[in-house]
Amino acid sequence: MDEKKKNMLSLIQPTNTPHLGNYLGAMRNWVKLQNDYNCFFGIADLHSITVRQDPVKLRAQIKESYALLIAAGLDPEKSTLFIQGHNQNHAELSWILSCYTQFGELSRMTQFKDKSEKHPDNINAGLFTYPVLMAADILLYQADLVPVGLDQKQHLELARNVCQRFNGIYGDVFTMPEPYITKTTEKVMSLQEPTKKMSKSDENLNASVWVLDDRDTIIRKFKRAVTDSETEICAREGKDGIINLMSIYSAASGKSFEDIESEFKGKGYGEFKLAVGEAVADMLAPMQNEFKRVSADKSYLEQCMKNGAEKAFKTSRKTLSKVYKKVGFVTF
Ligand code: TYM
Repeated sequence: MDEKKKNMLSLIQPTNTPHLGNYLGAMRNWVKLQNDYNCFFGIADLHSITVRQDPVKLRAQIKESYALLIAAGLDPEKSTLFIQGHNQNHAELSWILSCYTQFGELSRMTQFKDKSEKHPDNINAGLFTYPVLMAADILLYQADLVPVGLDQKQHLELARNVCQRFNGIYGDVFTMPEPYITKTTEKVMSLQEPTKKMSKSDENLNASVWVLDDRDTIIRKFKRAVTDSETEICAREGKDGIINLMSIYSAASGKSFEDIESEFKGKGYGEFKLAVGEAVADMLAPMQNEFKRVSADKSYLEQCMKNGAEKAFKTSRKTLSKVYKKVGFVTF
């Protein structure tokens, strides 16, 4: 670790292949920032079992998500790329922090309320304490910055509150983390219901674009994207579908909203949707090619996982040992 650099951490759940929202809202920023920070990026397998998973599928998805981190451009030599469940420090700190987190503040988490509604038959304690584990993920690595999408902002606020409370009692044990959220892609919306965020659990197959979708599928999904009954391509209030497509096109092409408005002045939605689909397919192609190469090399991936787990353990154990001493546990 470079002592002069600040630390950054973010994780992704392996509950499905990442979608365009995960990529634009989070993963792409990880790649952009990896040279400027000591980075810890990982797969949140522990979080994923708060919703029932098929073990065979989950195992495959953890490996796929891990390979995608590398395929997206994260360098395992520069960044620590790890699987959360390979480092027991996460579960240990999570328990301790749960004793410094109030029932009331967890009850206010909107994701808990949403997921409880979606899975009324399985409102388990892990779903409730999910943000505590997330706080542990962040605080273990003394992360200064946490690049996430807008949906994680409330969880990050909770991590900040827990950090402040703990430090208030025991002195400066944890670094106060800041969210890093990119405005235009902070919330990529569903292509079918543009007032709802693009989500891994959406049952409508045309709602989400998966980062491993082939070119034809990507273009077809954009062609079917729900817009409005007008004809103008502009970011006016009420045009949620068009604004979402403009944000995606802007992120994929680097063009500003003004450029996009003038490029498509007088042109129809069909032409615009095709351009967005093509730009997204072009943007994802290098990662998809790299994924084929990386995922075929099983021994390389396994070695990266092992190295990542060791590095993650070493760094986070320092924090955990400090916490053990501070709270009054007997240590050797
Ligand atoms: P997850 O797996 O749901 O999503 C991974 C990242 O993608 C972002 N994201 C989006 N961004 C823009 N538009 C969307 N539609 C969209 N959907 C998802 C998420 O904000 C996230 O950054 N709890 C986290 C995983 C986690 C974590 C952590 C993150 C566990 N521990 C510690 C940061 C720090 C989650 O479920 O992300």
